[in-house]
Amino acid sequence: MLANNRVPRALAAPEPTWSVETDVVILGSGAAGLSAALALRPVREVVLVTKDTLDAGSTNWAQGGLAAVLDPNDSLENHVSDTLEAGAGLCDEEAVRTLVTEAPTAIRYLMELGAAFDPGESSGEIALTREGGHSHRRIVHAGGDQSGAEVQRTLDESVRLAGVQVVERAFALDVVIGETASGQRAVAGVKVAMLDRNGGVQSVGIVYARAVIVATGGYGQVYASTSNPPAVTGDGIALALRAGVEAADLEFIQFHPTVLWSGSEATGQQALISEAVRGEGAILLDAAGQRVMKGVHPQEDLAPRDVVASAISRRMAESPAGVSDHVYLDARRIENFEERFPSITASCNAAGIDPTSELIPVAPAAHYVCGGVKASLNGETSLAGFFVVGEAACTGVHGANRLASNSLTEGVVAGTRVGRALSWELPAKVTVSDEDVDGELIDSYHRAALRSAMSRYVGVLRTPEGLESAARILGTLASNASADVVPTRKAFEATNMLTIAMAVVEAARTREESRGCHRRTDFDAPSRQWLRHLTCRLVDGKVEVK
Ligand code: SIN
Repeated sequence: MLANNRVPRALAAPEPTWSVETDVVILGSGAAGLSAALALRPVREVVLVTKDTLDAGSTNWAQGGLAAVLDPNDSLENHVSDTLEAGAGLCDEEAVRTLVTEAPTAIRYLMELGAAFDPGESSGEIALTREGGHSHRRIVHAGGDQSGAEVQRTLDESVRLAGVQVVERAFALDVVIGETASGQRAVAGVKVAMLDRNGGVQSVGIVYARAVIVATGGYGQVYASTSNPPAVTGDGIALALRAGVEAADLEFIQFHPTVLWSGSEATGQQALISEAVRGEGAILLDAAGQRVMKGVHPQEDLAPRDVVASAISRRMAESPAGVSDHVYLDARRIENFEERFPSITASCNAAGIDPTSELIPVAPAAHYVCGGVKASLNGETSLAGFFVVGEAACTGVHGANRLASNSLTEGVVAGTRVGRALSWELPAKVTVSDEDVDGELIDSYHRAALRSAMSRYVGVLRTPEGLESAARILGTLASNASADVVPTRKAFEATNMLTIAMAVVEAARTREESRGCHRRTDFDAPSRQWLRHLTCRLVDGKVEVK
């Protein structure tokens, strides 16, 4: 089969048979999407579309927590400088300042909605922990290591009480393009496939809206091994690219240094061992019992995540004591481990490990995407009426490497900001234009080859030959795209994953340096000339990187 460098320009699906009209349609139901819905609902009609159940995304799985300055000994300036330092030169300082300034308010807002964060030692205080790259204790957590689940529960309940219309098992295929009275290209709505429990298509319809907000999260599932749940397949970013909207920084994929290693062939979602475990004193050891982070960075085991993940990968490549695919986390010195980290204890126990007396085998895995659709912290993009928030957005807050626990905070801050802005004013009504293009799909079974190519060749350490190989494999997969593939959730996801993977590989090939979480073996340091962003667009189905 010949390689092809084009991806489908639309997802193939049956003709629409119904339509509804609303003020705002939100795609995705994590912290960002739910916060947007909640801020909008008192004023606007909102339809929230999610391809699975409300809590199937990454938010529910977040362990560490939410970063915010709440300790009088800390300062906003410290949080800003830690974020900029982690971001390795590519953060937008203004966006970072806005996030950091609004973070404490976001925490108090969640508490007003009923979030039960873990209390501190004195009455009225919230417990704060540390994670990699933070100079102070500023991570708010809940249920020990179930912080995301508490945020999800709080927002789910609030959204339902607020009367937001939630449509589960509905897959957003492509946006419907329109034109404003002044002739500007704009969004008129979104084409949606209603799914049955097996992911088959029941019907296709159009939700017409004055604004579309994408809050569909990242794309960890394009890798064979990830901390992300199965739903995280980059759907919103792929949809944005097909709509002609620019994405940026896609090459910066953050690998969490420590997921529970469960065998070299393990694939899919892996159990996370929160960085907060290192925040409470755990250290990384190799199979020969040597410290991994000693002498690598002044913050040692609490260095920024890109530094730790790449140090682990390099150490694994040296194969100490013959072990080349994992290292160990020594958490035996942490008091009350089971109480502080109940989910992690359960995951370790399920794998036959007692973290209070044994070393935990760990390895890096794809965790968070620092790039995404180019957007402001209010969600605005280059396409009128089209907004993107949360992990799907590239707002400049994370730069080349996100500071731990800034993302749930960003989801709540940016989601609330876009919701408030659209409560004030909706974009002008548009007339639908005739931009119909023929859809295609790739079959779901191509996902395995795609994910294994991405893990093998586009992981923590990237070689030029590996990136070439990945491009070749993806090109071959792309040549299988056809209008005849049966439309299902899995095929929609596979096609979106291919679109994203091709863009990631092109960006990674183009950026000839090592910076943040993009590490190339042929360029071992950042270079001044690359102190800039790469943007990606789809032009006639072909990825263009600038
Ligand atoms: C963790 O708990 O280590 C993950 C937190 C994050 O990714 O922000």
